[in-house]
Amino acid sequence: MTKTIKNICCIGAGYVGGPTMAVIAQKCPEIKVHVVDINESRVAAWNDPNVEHIPIYEPGLSEIVAETRDRNLFFSTKVDEAIDQADIIFISVNTPTKTYGIGKGMAADLKFIELCARQIARVAKTDKIIVEKSTLPVRTAEALKDILHNTGNGVNFQILSNPEFLAEGTAIDDLLDPDRILIGGDTHTAEGQAAMQTLVDVYAHWVPKAQILTTNVWSSELSKLTANAFLAQRISSINAMSEICEKTGANVDEVARAIGMDSRIGSKFLKSSVGFGGSCFQKDILNLVYISKSLGLQEVADYWEQVIILNDHQKLRFAKNIVKTLYNTVSGKQIAMLGWAFKKDTNDTRESAAIYVSDYLLSEQADVIVYDPKVKTEQIYADLEYLGHHDSETIRQRVKVVKTAKEACQNAHAIAVMTEWDEFKSLDWKSIYDDMYKPAFVFDGRRILDQTSMEALGFNVNIIGN
Ligand code: NAD
Ligand code: UGA
Repeated sequence: MTKTIKNICCIGAGYVGGPTMAVIAQKCPEIKVHVVDINESRVAAWNDPNVEHIPIYEPGLSEIVAETRDRNLFFSTKVDEAIDQADIIFISVNTPTKTYGIGKGMAADLKFIELCARQIARVAKTDKIIVEKSTLPVRTAEALKDILHNTGNGVNFQILSNPEFLAEGTAIDDLLDPDRILIGGDTHTAEGQAAMQTLVDVYAHWVPKAQILTTNVWSSELSKLTANAFLAQRISSINAMSEICEKTGANVDEVARAIGMDSRIGSKFLKSSVGFGGSCFQKDILNLVYISKSLGLQEVADYWEQVIILNDHQKLRFAKNIVKTLYNTVSGKQIAMLGWAFKKDTNDTRESAAIYVSDYLLSEQADVIVYDPKVKTEQIYADLEYLGHHDSETIRQRVKVVKTAKEACQNAHAIAVMTEWDEFKSLDWKSIYDDMYKPAFVFDGRRILDQTSMEALGFNVNIIGN
């Protein structure tokens, strides 16, 4: 028997929890959706009367929040209350790479997940469906089951895996029109099947049933890590080719186009860049490497680790090339960084290549001037401080954050395009050139500039993969 769902709780009001629950609330007006988080300032921002001030920038998100908030979408810090009332509880908390102990630097840190499970075990008085929305190592559901089934209070829990495949910057489109929804559960029991069907029914409000896949829970958990590993591997593959292109006169976009028209390869995710960023690709591959090693599969671990090694190399060689091209010194020179977010249309900066390239340039004593249309100044300083290579004072002295691209480029010796924001394509490059030291260098880590026309303006142009 499937359950009629009246209340959903989502623990974690982040980049996944916030947008995903906003869309569920919009598409399921009869269900009350409570998004809860321990981060008070984040919850306050979600509740800001000015909907443009919600903590996450995503095209289309503020409109959906404006429509649903306080109708059937609620943000609060009252985690216990939301757990108590919910029929379905999504766990959408962060699962960062461990920074201590066994598996440091590789394994996923599951302490936040476990805390949620223990809190649910303590609070729940009625049967619940628990949904793993966070990206988790394969077999995490087993640990959750252990914690939840040993409470002795007679409450029944069904644990489902329902990984999220949205990409930032296109989260709302991805949620409204997903390629597929994946639900893993206990396929061997009637209770497990019923729980899966209950969640299928939620998504079926707007997703065609043929696109809702059900699998066993381990396949579902592993599919998420596999999808991210395959996606990141494509980027490292094309980035490896970009270096060969630079040495041979081939053009990486032309190569990508030529191979992408092979329907077996496909054209998406073949854009060469200064390296992938974002909170998940690196973390999830490291986790996969760790799992492989734990299973004694050293060759498998080495295979996937190479995706990360190549990505680190791509960021480093971009930074080194700036120094080398500027006559082997950037000391006291002004380098304009256009873009700080890890991709366009998001204010998320986690693992952004801009952080690592700037950090390297700071070590070479450059002055770094940053412009990003959506990232806050304090975030930029925090990102550099977090790496711990330079003290806060040096960072604040050498890094300036400005309000326009033109301002960033004024009196610069070189420009580095770090994020592919649309506005960078249509800047007045002639007047930017006029305001720079000569020779005026530009390094395009996103391949958004046209080599010939930039050269015609007088720039010394370095485009990754050309
Ligand atoms: P996030 O850091 O933006 O949000 C997580 C939130 O969980 C934080 O606000 C934190 O305060 C809250 N939290 C942590 N522990 C809590 C607790 N015990 N009780 C209440 N709140 C708690 O993270 P995110 O980007 O939304 O990612 C969440 C998960 O989704 C991760 O596992 C990630 O791998 C996965 N994922 C992320 C994306 C993405 O695009 N960001 C896409 C797919 C999957
Ligand atoms: C990625 C996946 O695309 C999502 O399916 C997944 O849900 C998510 O990770 C996650 O698990 O967190 P996201 O990181 O938000 O989404 O964004 P992507 O579009 O995948 O871009 C990641 C990085 O790769 C960005 O820095 C982007 O600029 C770079 N990229 C992407 C390239 O360099 N070239 C490409 O062709 C595509």
